[in-house]
Amino acid sequence: MNVLLIGSGGREHALALALAKSPLLDRLFVAPGNPGTAQVAHNVALDANDFAGVIAFCRAEAIGLVVVGPEQPLVEGLVDALEAAGLRAFGPSKAAARLEGSKGFTKDLCAKYDIPTGAYERFVDREKALAYVREKGAPIVVKADGLAAGKGVVVAMTLEQAEQAVDALFSGAFGAAGAEAVIEEWLDGEEASFFALCDGEKAVAFASAQDHKRVGDGDQGPNTGGMGAFSPAPIMTPEISARVMREIVEPTVAAMKAEGCPFSGVLFAGLMIGKDGPKLIEYNTRFGDPECQVMMARLEDDLLGLLLACAERRLPEQVRLSAKTALTVVLAARGYPGTPLKGGRIEAIDEAEKIPGVTVIHAGTKIEGGQLVANGGRVLNVVALAGSVAEAQALAYRGVDAIRFPDGFCRRDIGWRAIGR
Ligand code: AMP
Ligand code: GLY
Repeated sequence: MNVLLIGSGGREHALALALAKSPLLDRLFVAPGNPGTAQVAHNVALDANDFAGVIAFCRAEAIGLVVVGPEQPLVEGLVDALEAAGLRAFGPSKAAARLEGSKGFTKDLCAKYDIPTGAYERFVDREKALAYVREKGAPIVVKADGLAAGKGVVVAMTLEQAEQAVDALFSGAFGAAGAEAVIEEWLDGEEASFFALCDGEKAVAFASAQDHKRVGDGDQGPNTGGMGAFSPAPIMTPEISARVMREIVEPTVAAMKAEGCPFSGVLFAGLMIGKDGPKLIEYNTRFGDPECQVMMARLEDDLLGLLLACAERRLPEQVRLSAKTALTVVLAARGYPGTPLKGGRIEAIDEAEKIPGVTVIHAGTKIEGGQLVANGGRVLNVVALAGSVAEAQALAYRGVDAIRFPDGFCRRDIGWRAIGR
């Protein structure tokens, strides 16, 4: 079968590596891809916003499955357009992607179907929002309703911060995403991510992971898309994972079906594991980046077979993953998460990949005059697979230290929380 993968980040390089191993695969195309995906697939210059162009390409190349990596085309309805054209896709419909595209939609669904999450209210009016934060006090969390590239959330530890966040939001800081605010209870505990494959009717647990969102060591500094991750997350014991499936994921799949927008694709639950068990912080409707990179390193089943099973409503009972730990360190370009310095030279990736258990994934890279250079904020992901978090951490940093990227930086403490346990 021919497959088209949409996206260009580290997540898509990891997915491309896993898809390329499939015995079901004939040809793999990635749109637009990156220099990493070019090593295992054909990169094609297609714009995911141009639905007609994507459909025409799929017809011309006899694509049997389209795998959509990022959230934007899902929220805009790429899967609906493909299905309407008689093409098969992995990912949710536009209506089902509201689980990621509208925080208010998700909170209302949780309230209606008794899915554990923090108390909340939705606001379109600045004064009412301000009155609410003053009534509730801090800590409190202020969110833009729509997609804001991970920047639309303020965890306000003081009332003043909360008031400023409300003001910023209603002053247009997040554009259309901030036309509405969701203000919610601050949840205490340890964060973890949990991924489940869903086929509209059923869900099967995929894996757990933990991300490191802050740019600096010790979880300091501004938020990023993720500076590193590992899988599995030790806090996600079999008992907690079973509770997440039973109390959060399965009720959500049932609720979405009941609401007439069955969810098919990968459901990414951002969780807070507190004293009374797991609560939902938010949903994403795609694989996480860089969580995908570590989960793919552990996957033992055929990815293409699994994604097809999702699209065709015949999910297996279980997904097989290695019991080992995978850990990834993100190499970012200096300046990230502000304006990253582009064009920094990258050398000796092959030295890192000579280390057994180390894989280097491309995110924001490009080839310029025969030289690999940085072309984005998050540039490379060094992934290591080993017997424990500590071993995977040591191995990943050996890989990092083998790479020459003078205009890059990384955190030196990925995995610290799990190693400390
Ligand atoms: P989100 O974009 O919704 O994942 O939020 C970004 C980050 O803000 C999360 O990863 C959490 O660290 C934090 N956060 C969001 N909502 C809450 C909440 N209700 N309680 C505590 N922390 C939160
Ligand atoms: N790493 C977090 C995300 O993909 O949303």
